Amino acid sequence: MYKFNQKLISAVILALSLTACSNDTSQTSTETTTKPKETSVSEKVANAILPSAQAATYEEITIKTGGFNLGKPASKEEIAGWHIEVSHGHNLPPGEGTAADGEEFFEEVCANCHGSFGEGVGRNPVLAGGEGTLTDKMKPERTVGSYWPYASTLLDYTHRAMPFPSAQSLTWDQTWSLSAYVLYLNDIIEDEDFVFNAQSYKEIHMPNENGFIRDERPDTHNTRCMKDCKDPASIKVKTALLGYGSGAEDVVEETKVAKGHELGQKIYDGTCRLCHGTGLAGAPKIEDTLTWEHRLKQGLSKVHKHAINGFSGQSGVMPPKGGNMELTDDEVKAAVDFMLKDIEQ
Ligand code: HEC
Ligand code: HEC
Repeated sequence: MYKFNQKLISAVILALSLTACSNDTSQTSTETTTKPKETSVSEKVANAILPSAQAATYEEITIKTGGFNLGKPASKEEIAGWHIEVSHGHNLPPGEGTAADGEEFFEEVCANCHGSFGEGVGRNPVLAGGEGTLTDKMKPERTVGSYWPYASTLLDYTHRAMPFPSAQSLTWDQTWSLSAYVLYLNDIIEDEDFVFNAQSYKEIHMPNENGFIRDERPDTHNTRCMKDCKDPASIKVKTALLGYGSGAEDVVEETKVAKGHELGQKIYDGTCRLCHGTGLAGAPKIEDTLTWEHRLKQGLSKVHKHAINGFSGQSGVMPPKGGNMELTDDEVKAAVDFMLKDIEQ
């Protein structure tokens, strides 16, 4: 009942506001009948965009329509308030500082989370060290010192986002000196009295400055398949994130048709995935290669038999044919072969 009333009230409010709107437009339309017909702003915008059917830039729309007639142009001061980005080689901020200046302040406001030596406390990021570990597939340590290509990012990030949660409370002098200190912790600035500022910025080179490359590969476009297309069920998208990944080769994305395993995959998806996809009821998971390698030691035909006739082992009960007695023996074997396809046999 309460809900109904609430709905009714909102409906009445909506109706009232609609009438108010239509009153408004009728007033303006009587006014404008005497004036020569004007194109509305939205029509102007549509005209500016539609004929070429291309997205018009904000400037184009502004020029063609004289603006949206909304708000006011932002003043230089207002823009400066938002335009706080620091980039490599330009927009370097005013002020300066030394690592010696930064040390005490870092201890006071940053060390709580990042540790006195930038070693990181709890789950807060490590800021120093890790140099030379980027090619270590299992444990690359990406820090400001080992990973970031330009010191400008440190100035930008510190000023924009730190100290958490009082972002943008630091002056530029504080930002320069804290950044100098973080670089000092990374042995990138060696003299604690080195004056870090827009002039001396170019003397600083980060160890990983040349570790980034511009990806020049052109965009590619897929052609949509309209006939004789692959059965989507047979397309396998596989993503492996090895360790934490540092190079492109760590993110292996393979899209391939599982050759010769179409039937097996179908049976697996229909009957076996329930347990072997998730580890339900103690079932070995399909991706646990170690257990499968171990199980295969008894011979493939035994493994086939266990799947067909059922099997009670140390981790649980494998029901005969996965509980689906309609499957033929060959279908169950195909499912097993699909499950084992990535295991060295
Ligand atoms: C209350 C905890 C806290 C404090 C205090 C703090 N930080 Fe952070 N800092 C963080 C967290 C959390 C992140 C990661 C944020 C994210 O990744 O979104 C971070 C990220 C950073 C990063 C980027 C690290 C990376 O590799 O991505 C830098 C640089 C940094 N902080 C510098 C500072 C400095 C300088 C101070 C002192 C002015 C400071 N922080 C104070 C919690 C803190
Ligand atoms: C209700 C859950 C469940 C379903 C459904 C299921 N399994 Fe199993 N499966 C198990 C469990 C649990 C084990 C582990 C038994 C043990 O070793 O303790 C197992 C083990 C296996 C083994 C290893 C046998 C060995 O010798 O070590 C194979 C092969 C197997 N299942 C294949 C299949 C196939 C093929 C299907 C689908 C047709 C399937 N399973 C469906 C639960 C299930």
